[in-house]
Amino acid sequence: MKTLKIAIQKSGRLNEKSVELLKNCGLNFENYKSSLISPVSNFPLEILFLRDDDIPEYVQDGIADLGIVGENVIEETEVEVSYLQRLGFGKCSLKIAVPNTYDIKDLSELDGKSIATTYPAILGKFLKERGIQADIRTISGSVEISPGLGLSDAICDLVSTGGTLKSNGLKPFADVMSSEAVLIGRVGSENEELVKELIQRIQSVLRAKE
Ligand code: PRP
Ligand code: ZN
Ligand code: MG
Repeated sequence: MKTLKIAIQKSGRLNEKSVELLKNCGLNFENYKSSLISPVSNFPLEILFLRDDDIPEYVQDGIADLGIVGENVIEETEVEVSYLQRLGFGKCSLKIAVPNTYDIKDLSELDGKSIATTYPAILGKFLKERGIQADIRTISGSVEISPGLGLSDAICDLVSTGGTLKSNGLKPFADVMSSEAVLIGRVGSENEELVKELIQRIQSVLRAKE
C-alpha cells in the first residue's frame, strides 16, 4: 500500500500547532528531533519536517502529498497547489513596518525608499498596485534588524504578537496581507482514498474545537 507524506514546518510559529493537530487526529509519531522524516506507526503516513518556505514546492512537485503552511508562503512562491482546509491557527499579517523614530503618514512616502523583506513577490505586487517605486531588498531571515543596521528604511515581514517588531524598535505601518495556516495538497490528490481519510480526520478535529 502507498505511504502518504505530509510536510510540516520543522521549527517556527506553525510547528507546534501542526504537530498537535496531527496528534489529535490519532496519529502516532515522534516529534522532530534530528531526523527530518518521522514514520507514523498507525497510519500509512510519513511526516516530513521542512523549512516552511520550501513546503509549497514540495507539494506541487509531488514529493509530499500534503502540507501545512501559511497562506503567505503559498502566495509568495506562486505555486499551483489545492487549498484543502483552513486550519484556524498561525494567524498573522504581513505588514510594512518602520523605525519608531520615522514619522511616516502616507504610503506614498515610501517612494524611493528601500524595504527589506522575505516576501519580494507579494510586496512588489502591493507596491506596484499603488504606484510606489521602492527598492525591495530580499533577505531570507532576521529582516527586523535591517533598518537598525542601516540596510533599509523599512521592512515588510510577518507580525503575529508584534514582539519582534517591538524589540527591534519598529512600529507597524501598513497591512499587506493577512494569513493563517492551511492544509494544501497536490492538484488532484484530494481524490485519493488515503488523502480523503486524513482530511476527514482533520476536519473532525477542527469541528470538535468549535
Ligand atoms: C515570523 C516573522 C517574525 C516573527 C514575528 O517568523 O518572520 O520574525 O514571526 O512574530 P511576532 O510578531 O510574534 O514577534 P516565522 O515564525 O514565520 O519564521 P520564519 O521567518 O523563519 O519563516
Ligand atoms: Zn519561513
Ligand atoms: Mg522570521
